[in-house]
Amino acid sequence: MPMITVISRSGQETEVEAETGRTLMEVIRDNGFDELLALCGGCCSCATCHVHVDPDFADKLPAMSEDENDLLDSSDHRNEYSRLSCQVPVDDDMAGLRVTIAAED
Ligand code: FES
Repeated sequence: MPMITVISRSGQETEVEAETGRTLMEVIRDNGFDELLALCGGCCSCATCHVHVDPDFADKLPAMSEDENDLLDSSDHRNEYSRLSCQVPVDDDMAGLRVTIAAED
């Protein structure tokens, strides 16, 4: 299981174990980051699981679907490293990934 670093909105960094096969959202939420609301439970309809991924990893993550792209457009805090964490499955290549919880819309 890869280790990833989650950075909270206040800038606190926490290294967590990410179980492969789960989504980044599930890993972040289940490690106690309550500020990642994930209100829709992962069905790509709320955008409250918005994160910014490490630029070094942005190209290595699975491509974004049209639905994810459209939903991210509703955020005022979107940037080129934005992803909806519920749409990103964890795999072993993610070891060392740093992911920052995006500001609340
Ligand atoms: S949890 Fe709702 S879009 Fe990701």
